Amino acid sequence: MIGFIYRKIIKPILFKFPADDVHNFFLKTGNYFGRMNFIKSFFNKILTYKNSILSHKVANINFENPVGLAAGFDYDADLIDILPSVGFGFHTIGSVTYLPYGGNPRPMLGRLPKSKSLLVNKGFKSMGIYSVLKKIGKRNKNVIPLGISIGSTNKPYLKIEDMAEDVYNSFVEVLKTDTFDYFELNISCPNLINIENLKEKFDDPIGFSILLNKLSYLNINKPLFIKMHAEKSVTDTIALLEVAKSYKWVTGVTMSNLVKDRKNIYLDKDEVRLAGKGNFSGKPTKELSNNLVTEISRKYKDRFIVIGCGGIFTAEDAYEKIKRGASLVQMITGMVYEGPSVIGKINKDLAKLLKKDGYKNISEAIGVYNK
Ligand SMILES: Cc1cc2nc3c(=O)[nH]c(=O)nc-3n(C[C@H](O)[C@H](O)[C@H](O)COP(=O)(O)O)c2cc1C
Repeated sequence: MIGFIYRKIIKPILFKFPADDVHNFFLKTGNYFGRMNFIKSFFNKILTYKNSILSHKVANINFENPVGLAAGFDYDADLIDILPSVGFGFHTIGSVTYLPYGGNPRPMLGRLPKSKSLLVNKGFKSMGIYSVLKKIGKRNKNVIPLGISIGSTNKPYLKIEDMAEDVYNSFVEVLKTDTFDYFELNISCPNLINIENLKEKFDDPIGFSILLNKLSYLNINKPLFIKMHAEKSVTDTIALLEVAKSYKWVTGVTMSNLVKDRKNIYLDKDEVRLAGKGNFSGKPTKELSNNLVTEISRKYKDRFIVIGCGGIFTAEDAYEKIKRGASLVQMITGMVYEGPSVIGKINKDLAKLLKKDGYKNISEAIGVYNK
């Protein structure tokens, strides 16, 4: 019912306004609602779904359900207090960068409804690590697990070592706090400006090892996931993971980020022709992400935990990633198109699918396709 009202009444109104403004409106309203207990208990009642079949322990963290908000929606940590009442099982803020960056010139967001996709051109808009940590302050830890995605400040660098230092500096600040339950290291933002001149990049094995070597000076004491590209081949992805596997503090990978290729078969040709600068989320990411989840889970099942991300709109989409090897899933675009009630619906339908297949707990279904 709530989903129906969102799709038929609320969404058509929201979609008449620029996507950037609607996103900002949601962040401001969500932040305000997060401070009001009666709104939180109301949302809890109408939006969340709880069932012990969905709860399990991943990387030593308890997750009440496997559906998380991916990095990019709550980039400056406005929704920490409201999201647990919307039904998510975990929540990644960011990507946050060391220095603030106002984002690329607007529009930073666009909609491609026929392609079930969003056009993203934020370029790591961030208040910067100091302001984000100050905003969060002391956090109530009795809610859902919270992670922070860290990327490099969007500015010119003379050499890759300087870029690694920038990421390192963010981790230094984050590690002074006990705010987060896990970290995500974003090496796959496809719309960073100013790095074309660099010989090595974080997403090639040499640049990646420079970054991981630098971070090794720190005591990374919480699980860390690397956010990977969607469009790298399996071979190139494995080349990166062969580097990552010797760093024992790298816990897993999040598969995967946005897509760049405008010839992606799931993009509607007319919508793409009219689309401005940026990269695509949603349905065009799904198959690429699914394929990587399978291949990487198969090869590294004893080494890396996999989080599946890309094109989740239904419980079937989430279940597919889980059966391919994902222990958890993340989403953004499905929530924008289907409304916040979709999180509870995915969880409810996922519980039904698990029961139907005879599982007593979600952990039994992880990677069953690969057995
Ligand atoms: C508006 C928007 C902003 C995003 N910004 C980031 C980001 O800052 N860091 C990141 O790792 N991924 C970012 N992403 C990618 C998402 O985390 C996710 O990988 C991708 O959208 C695929 O998931 P979806 O199809 O459920 O949206 C962004 C996606 C969207 C839609």
